[in-house]
Amino acid sequence: TIAFLNGEYMPLSEAKISPMDRGFLFGDGIYEVIPTYAGNPVGFKGHTTRMAQGLEAIEITNPYTAEQWQDILSNLVSKNQTFIESGNIGVYFHVSRGTDTKRFHAYPKHIAPTVFGFAFEIAPPQPTSKTDVKPFKVALQQDKRWQRCHIKSTSLLGNVMHYQAGVDAGVNETILYNGDGMITEASSCNVFMVKDGAISTPPLNHELLPGITRAIAIEAFKQAGLVVTETWFSKEDLLNADEVWLTSSSKEVAPVVEVDGHVIGNGEVGDVWEKAIAAYHSYKFK
Ligand code: PDD
Repeated sequence: TIAFLNGEYMPLSEAKISPMDRGFLFGDGIYEVIPTYAGNPVGFKGHTTRMAQGLEAIEITNPYTAEQWQDILSNLVSKNQTFIESGNIGVYFHVSRGTDTKRFHAYPKHIAPTVFGFAFEIAPPQPTSKTDVKPFKVALQQDKRWQRCHIKSTSLLGNVMHYQAGVDAGVNETILYNGDGMITEASSCNVFMVKDGAISTPPLNHELLPGITRAIAIEAFKQAGLVVTETWFSKEDLLNADEVWLTSSSKEVAPVVEVDGHVIGNGEVGDVWEKAIAAYHSYKFK
């Protein structure tokens, strides 16, 4: 496949950076994953806005305007079309602080950021029938990451360790709760639950990523007349929910039927999910 590195397109296998890059040494960077289907990106504006905010938060000058990011995305999609025949293409963008000559914690001045992008195949859009969708099972753990989870940092070891705990438990993801026992998000997704027909998802703060899929889903659900609120819920609430869903750029709205060995609802994908995924599909390109 074809990658983008510091202004140039090249085969991914030829893209090389220095081991002195601060992304490598410190995880000092910001990233995004943008889904595209048949060339159409989902939530492009949300993704580039969040990236701009993340870069600002860590004092890296955004190397490109939204229009330039749009061009890079379009080029990566078109250059990779022959390699990814399904046309379900995720675009990864990564901006690290850049390559220094020494290893020193403070932000160096006058170095140029390293900008990397590549394309990869993502799952096709979720099926709309509850009998066709593959449900998730998840683990449940106390969140042991840092206090700045709203920043989409490339320092992902905390997330990786939580995700791996799920894999080791034979499930697909790990949902996280804070010190008060309140659900925040999952290691690579946001979390929704349904109780008595009402949908809820935790409100935004420093404990979770402001997911673009989450934001699109909330709007889509409202437009479809579903009841959705941004409210905290506990891990007990989650285990007693009628339905649990995960959202992310690669998973869209994914139903969960088991949390930490507890069956959710009747153990099958729920009716509200069917309404939710239909609403999401009809809204996601708007
Ligand atoms: N993960 N929370 C975390 C910790 C995430 O890493 C992600 C995304 C989300 C969902 O955000 P969005 O809807 O904007 O994709 C929530 C990406 C896809 C990843 O790391 O691969």
